[in-house]
Amino acid sequence: MTAEADHAALIRLFHVHRHFHATRALTDITLDFYRNEFLFVTGPSGAGKTTLLKLLYRGEVASQGQILVDGMNLARIPRKKIHLLRRKFGIIFQDYKLIPTRTVYENVALVLEAAGRKSDYIRKKVQSVLRIVGMDKRQDTLPPNLSGGEQQRVAVARAVVGDPTIILADEPTGSLDAESAGLIIKLLKTFHTRGATVIVATHDRELIRSIPGRIIYLQEGRLTSAPTV
Ligand SMILES: Nc1ncnc2c1ncn2[C@@H]1O[C@H](COP(=O)(O)OP(=O)(O)OP(=O)(O)O)[C@@H](O)[C@H]1O
Ligand SMILES: [Mg+2]
Repeated sequence: MTAEADHAALIRLFHVHRHFHATRALTDITLDFYRNEFLFVTGPSGAGKTTLLKLLYRGEVASQGQILVDGMNLARIPRKKIHLLRRKFGIIFQDYKLIPTRTVYENVALVLEAAGRKSDYIRKKVQSVLRIVGMDKRQDTLPPNLSGGEQQRVAVARAVVGDPTIILADEPTGSLDAESAGLIIKLLKTFHTRGATVIVATHDRELIRSIPGRIIYLQEGRLTSAPTV
C-alpha cells in the first residue's frame, strides 16, 4: 500500500440518503472517516445514529448515494461476499446480544470458529482477549449470571477477537452505571490505541467529554455543526 493510500479515508459516504417509506432517517450525508480515528456520532433520539452505523456494514442499504468501506463499494458487493465486509467490523450493542446458553468463552470463540481459524489459535486468542477485558476468570460462566458491565466486557471481547479494522459501538454504555461505562470506554480506547478505527454512537455527553475524539452531530437525519449548548 502506498503512503498516499494509507492516509486516504477508510470510509466514505457521498450524498447518502436512507428513507423508510415516509420517514427520512438520513438525508444527504457526505462524510469521511479516517483510519485509526476515534469518533462519536451523537444527536437526539431518532436523529439517525443507529441507521448510519448499520449502513456501514450493510445491516441497512442506502436508498440513494454511495458508501465505500476500505475500498469496497457497498452497493456492488455480491451477497456471497458480504462476509468479507462484515469481517472488517466488530460490533457492540447497548443490550450486549450475547448468546445466553453459551459460556463466556464460547460466545467469543464463535467468531473465530465461523472464520475457520484453527483450534490452537482460537484458544490462545480468546484467552488473551478475555484477559485484556478482565473476564478470563469467568470464561465458563453463562451470560445471564454476569452483571451488565461484565456482559458488555464480554461483548467487547467478542467484537475485537477477530482483529477488526473498525469497531462500531451503538450506545455501548446506555445500560450501565458510571463505573462500568468508564471501564467500557477505557477498553474501546485500548483497542483504538492498538490500531482500530472506533465509532461510538451515543447521546451521553459525559461519555463524549471523557475521551478526545471527533464528534459528528446528527439532527433529524442531517449532519449539523456542533450545538452551542
Ligand atoms: N427499520 C425501520 N423502519 C422504519 N423506520 C425506521 C427504521 N429504522 C429506523 N427508522 C426511523 O428512522 C429514524 C432514525 O432512527 P435511528 O434508530 O437511526 O435513530 P437513533 O439516532 O439511533 O435514535 P436513538 O437515540 O433513539 O437510538 C427514526 O425516525 C426511526 O423511527
Ligand atoms: Mg439508536
